Amino acid sequence: MRFPEGFLWGAATSPHQVEGNNVNSDFWARERTSQGMERSGDACDSYHRFGEDMRLLAEAGLNAYRFGVEWARVEPEPGEVSRAELAHYRRMIDTALGHGLAPVVTLHHFTSPRWFVEEGGWLGERAVDRFRAYVEAVSGILDGVEWVCTMNEPNMLALMTSMARLAQDPEARKKWQSPTVDGGARPALPDPDPELGKLLIEAHHAARDVVRRRTGARVGWTIANQALVARPGAEERLRELSHVREDLYLEGARDDDFVGVQSYSSQWVNADGIEPHPPHPGNTLVGTAYRPDSLGIAVRHTHEVTGGVPILVTENGIATADDSRRVAYTAEALGHLADAISDGVDVRGYVHWSALDNYEWGHWAPTFGLIAVDRETFERTPKPSLGWLGEVAKSNALPREGR
Ligand code: BGC
Repeated sequence: MRFPEGFLWGAATSPHQVEGNNVNSDFWARERTSQGMERSGDACDSYHRFGEDMRLLAEAGLNAYRFGVEWARVEPEPGEVSRAELAHYRRMIDTALGHGLAPVVTLHHFTSPRWFVEEGGWLGERAVDRFRAYVEAVSGILDGVEWVCTMNEPNMLALMTSMARLAQDPEARKKWQSPTVDGGARPALPDPDPELGKLLIEAHHAARDVVRRRTGARVGWTIANQALVARPGAEERLRELSHVREDLYLEGARDDDFVGVQSYSSQWVNADGIEPHPPHPGNTLVGTAYRPDSLGIAVRHTHEVTGGVPILVTENGIATADDSRRVAYTAEALGHLADAISDGVDVRGYVHWSALDNYEWGHWAPTFGLIAVDRETFERTPKPSLGWLGEVAKSNALPREGR
C-alpha cells in the first residue's frame, strides 16, 4: 500500500512536555497548585538536547518533526520579546532542516505565559491582540518552514480553560483531571464553552493572517478528534455533541491551508451522551479503548466538515508500555488512513505522537514515545517502533503484514 508522493512522515512533541523548566508558563504554576499532579521539572531536557532528538528521528528515516515554540519563553513579560529565545527556536528550525526534517511548527500547545492568565487568559479583553503580537514576533524566524500550526487542539484548550476556572471555585473539585488521562475511569468531561471556542477561532484567524502576511508557510490548526459514532437512534445527539466538541473548530479551518487531525481512540454516543470507554484489559495507559480504526473515522469526518481542506495527521499514537502494541496499533491505524486516502480524502502526511516518552500533562506513567528517555540521565533509547516507522517512511508504503 503506497502513500502519495512527497508524503510527510514524522513524530511530534510539544514544548512544555519535553523542554523542561518552563517556569514562566501557566501550567508550571498549575503543577504547584493542583492536587494529584506530577511535575514536569526538567522534562526530557529537550531544550538542550533537541539536536539529539532530531538526529535520532532523521537517522531512523523520518522526514518531518513537529515541535512547538513556547510563548512563555519568547515573551516572559507582556511586550518584552526575548531575542535569545527566538534565536533558540531558529536554531531548532535550522537543525531540523539540516537533518532533512520538515519542521512542523506549533505556536501554542496548551500553555500560555503566567502574565497572560493573570490578565484573564483567553477570556481576557486583550487575549486576541496579545496572541497576535506574539505570533508577529515569532513570524520573523519562520523562514524555510512550510507548516505552521497556530494552536494545538483549541477544543481541548477550551475544555482545560473551563476546568481551570472550575478549580478556582472552592466548592468545585480541586483535584486535577488531565483531559488526556483516565479517559474511561471518570465521569464524562464537560462540553467546552462554545463562546470560548469562538474566541479561539478569532485568535486563530488573527494568527493565520500574520503568518500568511509574513511567511511563505502553509497555516492551519490542529483539532482533537474523538471519532464519535452514534448508536442507532442517537444521530441527532451525535450532531449536537460533535458540533460543540469538534465541528465548530473544524468549520473555523475551512479557509486554512491545511487542518491537523489528532486521533487516538473512538467513543459511542447514545441518547444520554458520550459513553465512557468500557473498562477492558486492552485499554491504553490513559484509560482509552484500543481503537486504531479511529484515525480513519477522524480523517473522513474532518474531510467532510471542512469541505476537503488538505489534512496533515499531526498526532496519532498510543500510551503503552509494550512497544510491540505501538507497532501493531500504528500499522492498523495507517491501514485505515491508506483506505481513506484511496477513497479520496486528501492527506499530506502522518506525524506520530510522540517522538519521546514525555510529560503527559500531570503524569509521567503514560508512555507514548518512539524513544525512551531515562528520567535521571536523559539518555535516549530508540524503541523498535521508531525503526519500524522509519522503514515505513523510507519505503513510503505500508508493509503487507501491517495491513
Ligand atoms: C495533545 C498532547 C498529548 C496527547 C496524548 C493530545 O491531546 O496534543 O499534548 O500529550 O494528546 O494524550
